[in-house]
Amino acid sequence: MTLPGLDVSTPLMQQYREIKARHRDAILLFRMGDFYEMFEDDAEVGARTLGLTLTSRNNGAAAEIPLAGVPVKAAAGYIKRLVERGFRVAICEQVEDPKLAKGIVRREVIEVVTPGAVMADDLLEERQNTFLVSVALDGGGTRAGFAAADLSTGELALESVEAGGGALEAALQRYNPSEVIVAEGAAALAPPGVLVTRREGWEFDVALASEELARRYGLASLDGLGLGAGDALAVGAAGALLRYLGELQPGGLPQLRRPVVRRAEGRLFLDAMTRRNLELVEPLRAGAQDATLLGVLDRTMTPMGARLLRGWLLAPLTDPTAIAARLDAVGSLVADEPRRTAIREALDGVRDLERLGAKAAARRATPRDLGALRDSMGCLPRLEALLGDLYGLAAGFDALADLAAALAAALVDRPPAVLGDGDVVRPGHTPALDELRSLRDGGRAYIASLQARERARTGIGSLKVGYNKVFGYYIEITRANKESVPPDYERRQTLTGAERYVTPELKAYEAKVLGAEEEISRLEERVFGEIRDAVGAAIQRIQDTAGRVAAADVLASLADAAAAGGYVRPEVVDAFGLEIVAGRHPVVERVMPREAFIPNDIRLDAAQQIMIVTGPNMAGKSTVLRQVAQLVILAQAGSFVPAREARIGVVDRLFTRVGASDDLARGQSTFLVEMSETASILHNATRKSLVLLDEIGRGTSTYDGVAIAWAVAEYLHDHLGCKAVFATHYHELTQLAERYPRVANFNVAVHESGDDVIFLHRLRPGGADRSYGIHVGRLAGLPTEVLERARVVLRSLEAGHRVAATPAAADQLALFAPAEHPVLAELRGLDLDGLTPREALDRLAELQRRIALGGEG
Ligand SMILES: Nc1ncnc2c1ncn2[C@@H]1O[C@H](COP(=O)(O)OP(=O)(O)OP(=O)(O)O)[C@@H](O)[C@H]1O
Ligand SMILES: [Mg+2]
Repeated sequence: MTLPGLDVSTPLMQQYREIKARHRDAILLFRMGDFYEMFEDDAEVGARTLGLTLTSRNNGAAAEIPLAGVPVKAAAGYIKRLVERGFRVAICEQVEDPKLAKGIVRREVIEVVTPGAVMADDLLEERQNTFLVSVALDGGGTRAGFAAADLSTGELALESVEAGGGALEAALQRYNPSEVIVAEGAAALAPPGVLVTRREGWEFDVALASEELARRYGLASLDGLGLGAGDALAVGAAGALLRYLGELQPGGLPQLRRPVVRRAEGRLFLDAMTRRNLELVEPLRAGAQDATLLGVLDRTMTPMGARLLRGWLLAPLTDPTAIAARLDAVGSLVADEPRRTAIREALDGVRDLERLGAKAAARRATPRDLGALRDSMGCLPRLEALLGDLYGLAAGFDALADLAAALAAALVDRPPAVLGDGDVVRPGHTPALDELRSLRDGGRAYIASLQARERARTGIGSLKVGYNKVFGYYIEITRANKESVPPDYERRQTLTGAERYVTPELKAYEAKVLGAEEEISRLEERVFGEIRDAVGAAIQRIQDTAGRVAAADVLASLADAAAAGGYVRPEVVDAFGLEIVAGRHPVVERVMPREAFIPNDIRLDAAQQIMIVTGPNMAGKSTVLRQVAQLVILAQAGSFVPAREARIGVVDRLFTRVGASDDLARGQSTFLVEMSETASILHNATRKSLVLLDEIGRGTSTYDGVAIAWAVAEYLHDHLGCKAVFATHYHELTQLAERYPRVANFNVAVHESGDDVIFLHRLRPGGADRSYGIHVGRLAGLPTEVLERARVVLRSLEAGHRVAATPAAADQLALFAPAEHPVLAELRGLDLDGLTPREALDRLAELQRRIALGGEG
């Protein structure tokens, strides 16, 4: 801990407390020389979170003040850790030169970093947006408005949502927010683990917000943004968002672009559980990043492309024309391999145009950032030439030639990481700078030549000219030669074996050099600032181009994935039916040896609306079910699909309930989660939806589970009329097909030989009659005794609980009523008169034991 010459009492602590009072909810990093210090509670939290040593300083009075600090040079890493743990971090700098300060140095908070408001590269995920989402709810809780901002890209989106039935949560999830802003007292909708920031209700006021937006973007009215009457809440949300961001970034937010209004219409609605269950972008198990649909598809070359592809997958389209436009574009690149490769090569040199542009606008771009922008812009003409008719991207494409030329003229080939660390401005760009540089270089050359001349003049062969920060240039002479030192040398420093001198001539040149250097850095700073601001002022243009580059990248990536994976173009139409011939699971097929995945056919239409898929454990029920969902999502996102043929009638919503997933974090039991997810499906599915239910009812007892699954299937068949696939162990459900015309049974085939089962993974018509769970237990290595015993118990259960054969039975619940227990028959047949009391007791005891075992002895 270094606090050179600082008394932590009085004026400094007063200044600290004043600033801290305005940032109570943040950890305040208080700049003191080369350290950021934390005091009091912040020090305790900071020390604990960051593993720092907690020290204390005497406050002058009796109180000891806890203290912890981090070096400014290493601060980025510490800030990152604090923010990742969900803290806000207020960065308080010294805003005047300590040497010039009268009394205590002036300090101000220049930025508050929060999980949702980050700009620094090392706090950002390159291939993902970091969204801060503000949510305004109406009084009745039926509508909501969102405003979402990504400070690092300058994106600002407004969206209005009907709040019912999980729509709100789903829309929010799509942004994957890092922080959510809501009004005080409003429901916190944020997913667990996401920082919730509460703001006062008036900040969401629509009139205030409209004024703020109009002022900020210089608009006479908000109509130009495409906002409608239904978007008032979203405008209010934007007001609160901008106010909050204004507090976090007192220097302003020049990078924020005009808001874009997003409409949920025209999008395939995927709720959070569907997104999670299908592992679209996030694996269920941490670390298996490649085992997601995004992981398989993502062959993008640029970070903007990667972010856009994620967006396309999470919000597929529902308009067949819009989908066809994407498919056409992908198709043209699948067919033309050389062009695809050329586009990908052109993209290879394009860096994160979007974020670099935003950094320039926010005056945060470094010389190296501008160099990266220049190099990226340099690739654009080539890309533009390759676009042709691709997705309409070429029309109005702005290759930013003027900016590229200005940057090329102004910057050296390899600009340094920070200003002041080597030349930034290219020779020939600024005449005054060139003059200063030759002055500096001339001075340096003169000094360099001095050594040879002085050696000749003095006859001292070991004479050296050197430089250090404290004394500047000097002539060093070893003690042995002290006698030969000329009289015009002035001694400056004595070392153990040598003396250091200066001459008036040397000092004069030194002044020239140092003066020139100072001027140079001032001038470089100015020229650099000008060019950075010129680039920043073109933010809208840069971001528009970045958007087109991203789209080209995504289309080429989809085409490349299609070519590599042998995908076909799906036919996406406005129809009810869905037909997939020889479809494959895009992710599962990847982890298997080539050709090992068994393709399957799926047909769902007005005549075959619900498929019940039964089959042994491990057969591939869940795989085929998810495969249907993933293919629909791929097709509607505009991607080719792994199949021989696919015809897909657009789906408006896709729901997937897979397995039983605990949500202990939210304090809900497995089965409650399952049921509430099922409830949400039944409330929100329409006839145009696709519902995929895997092992519904599994979380409870068999009879309850079968009964619920049965009733759900009936409801889907009779009330909703939507397409659905059930994967289930309950072979009882196969009887649904006998009662309902549009329900069809399928099973995933296995081949049995003796005790062995070979999994064929082939879907075929008809129901399965058993589960092979014990067989899988054997594969997994359960002890032999356990397996033997399980077989016995299974046989007895099957004997005792046989399902009635006639589904036409009046009461459907009777379908699952157990047949008469064998013990009952035996009881009935007992000849009581022929038994002694002793025998009667024995028989009773035995029957009781058999009941306990479930029928057999
Ligand atoms: N079509 C297929 N071709 C090749 N392998 C497959 C196929 N489908 C599934 N598999 C393999 O079988 C494994 C089990 O599949 P899946 O989980 O879908 O079975 P399941 O029938 O749902 O089993 P359970 O009843 O235990 O839930 C998969 O992990 C995969 O390795
Ligand atoms: Mg399964």
